[in-house]
Amino acid sequence: MTVTVRVPAKVNVQLAVGAARADGFHDLANVFLAVGLYDEVTVTPADELRVTCEGPDAGQVPLDATNLAARAAIALAERYGRTPDVHLHIAKDIPVAGGMAGGSADGAGALLACDTLWGTGASRDELLDICAELGSDVPFSLVGEAALGTGRGERLTALEVGGTFHWVFAMAVRGLSTPAVFREFDRLGEGLDVPEPVASRELLDALAKGDPDALAATVSNDLQPAALSLFPELADTLAAGRAAGALATLVSGSGPTTAYLARDPASAEKIAEALRTSGTCRSVRVASGPVPGATVVDSR
Ligand code: C5P
Repeated sequence: MTVTVRVPAKVNVQLAVGAARADGFHDLANVFLAVGLYDEVTVTPADELRVTCEGPDAGQVPLDATNLAARAAIALAERYGRTPDVHLHIAKDIPVAGGMAGGSADGAGALLACDTLWGTGASRDELLDICAELGSDVPFSLVGEAALGTGRGERLTALEVGGTFHWVFAMAVRGLSTPAVFREFDRLGEGLDVPEPVASRELLDALAKGDPDALAATVSNDLQPAALSLFPELADTLAAGRAAGALATLVSGSGPTTAYLARDPASAEKIAEALRTSGTCRSVRVASGPVPGATVVDSR
C-alpha cells in the first residue's frame, strides 16, 4: 500500500511575540492562514526508515532522523508499539527555511500518511498532540484553513474566513534559522517591556469579512524587525512589492520569504512579474488561501 498526503504552506497574517519564557520558547498570538503552495509526502512500506526528497530545494533538506517527516513516523510508531519501517518521499514545493512551515508541513504530512498506512485508529486529538511535540507550527499544518495559535503557537482555535485572499510570495536567496530570528528578537528587545501577545480584533474581523483592504491595514509581524536586522536586503524586496501595488507587504513568519497581499488575481500576477524582474529575490510564486490542511490525495 502507498499513501500520499498533500500539505499546504502558511503565512502568518499576525505574529505577536511575547517575552522569552523559562523554556526558551515565546508565547505567541499567531494568526495562521494556509495558502495553496504544497508539499506532498508519500509513504510506502520498506525494510527500514528512509527519507528521500525531490524539488528545487531538495538538496537543503536533511534526510536523516532530524527530518520532521522521519520524526513524525518514529513518534507515531512508538505510540503504537511498532517499527517505523517506511520509505517517506517528499515532493517539495514549499521553500526550505523560508518561514512558510515547509518542515512542519512534512511532519504533519508524514504523520497523516503513516497513520493511514498503519490504520492506527488514532483520534484527531492524538494526532494533534504528536504534532505539537514535533514543533510549534506542525498542528496548524494538519488542520489548515485559518487559525489562531496561542501558547508557543501549538494551541489552535479555528477562525472564520469570509473569502479568498490572494498572495504573492518572494523566495529569498538564502534561508534564515527560526531560532536565530527569535534570538535576534530577544536581543533587539533587551531592556524593553515586551507586552503580552494578543490577537487583533480588527484583524480577525477583516478575515471574517474576507476584506483585503481591512486585512492589509491590520497585518503585523513582530519578528519582522529581527528578520530584517539579520537580512537587511529583504527591505529592497518589500519595497519592490509595495511599488508594484501590494496592499500590504510583510515577512512571512521568521522569514526570509516575503509576502504580498493583492486585491485580486490580476493584481497578484502584476506584483509577481514586478518582483521577478526586480532582481531582489530568487523566485516568486502566487498562491491564495485559506485552503484545507493535510489531506490524503492517494491511497492504494
Ligand atoms: O517549535 P519549533 O521547533 O518549530 O521551534 C523552533 C525554534 O523557534 C525553537 O527552538 C525556538 O528557538 C523558536 N521558537 C520560539 N517560540 C515559539 C516557537 C519557536 O522561541 N513560540
